[in-house]
Amino acid sequence: MTDKYALIGSPIYHSKSPMIHGEFARSCEQDITYTTIETSHEDFSRTIFRFRESGGRGMNVTAPFKVTAMDLATERCKRAELAGAANTLKFVDGNIVADNFDGVGLVRDIESNLGIKLSGRRVLILGAGGAARGAIQPCLERAPCELMIANRTIAKAVALATAASALGRVVGCSDSALAGERFDVIINATSASLRNEQPAVPACVFTPDSLAYDLVYGKGLTPFLAMARSLGVKHLADGCGMLVEQAAEAFLWWRGVRPDTRCLIKKLKTPLL
Ligand code: ATR
Repeated sequence: MTDKYALIGSPIYHSKSPMIHGEFARSCEQDITYTTIETSHEDFSRTIFRFRESGGRGMNVTAPFKVTAMDLATERCKRAELAGAANTLKFVDGNIVADNFDGVGLVRDIESNLGIKLSGRRVLILGAGGAARGAIQPCLERAPCELMIANRTIAKAVALATAASALGRVVGCSDSALAGERFDVIINATSASLRNEQPAVPACVFTPDSLAYDLVYGKGLTPFLAMARSLGVKHLADGCGMLVEQAAEAFLWWRGVRPDTRCLIKKLKTPLL
């Protein structure tokens, strides 16, 4: 029987995941289907159980269910625990195992695709919500010399840094505390770009050789990336590579084979105009 996978979320009509997993399945010769399932908070667990009973082997989870998926899971990988959210589920012998590949996908995109090593670098993450939480552990595992988390609401940045302090040198602060600081990699993990807003960040954090990375994809030159470009930053990236890389990690976890991502990223990347 063909193994079934799906993305669950709301809304999901815009998702590129079915196309990405379809390409992976073709290139890795895996006999699977990958569909999308829209649901509500009330129906979330029922929908998951129904999908599993119908032959489902795993699911990707997107907004707004990443935290709810953690509650439903019977086993949680450490990465997902630290992120406080799951983006992938695997159904194994009656168990629902949760993991989170968003941060791993981000780090793979920065290091393997963009060729920028995080080790020994100064890294700044803007934001302290779900997206930022997922990025902290994978970033710290690459041993940056310092990771700063800056957030509009400082208490959230400090709490996040405190929770991750055993993993490396990580500091939480407010946007205003960034005055006079410079970074090699600046990651916009706020949700500001989704509303075409610019997160408050002082110009001094960028250097021409910095990487400015916005986690959103398909939005072209976001206000954050536009600011970086206007300051002469040469390396700009949106979350397209991260999207494909996190999907590849999930595919590997489900199927035991790692798909090649390069062609797909090239195909999906839209110019940052
Ligand atoms: P997500 O799951 O996308 O991370 P979230 O958990 O709601 O969404 O978190 C959104 C993050 O973006 C928060 O860190 C938020 O800052 P606050 O904690 O102060 O609310 C940040 N954010 C959203 N809009 C922003 C803006 N216009 N400028 C700066 N930060 C913003």
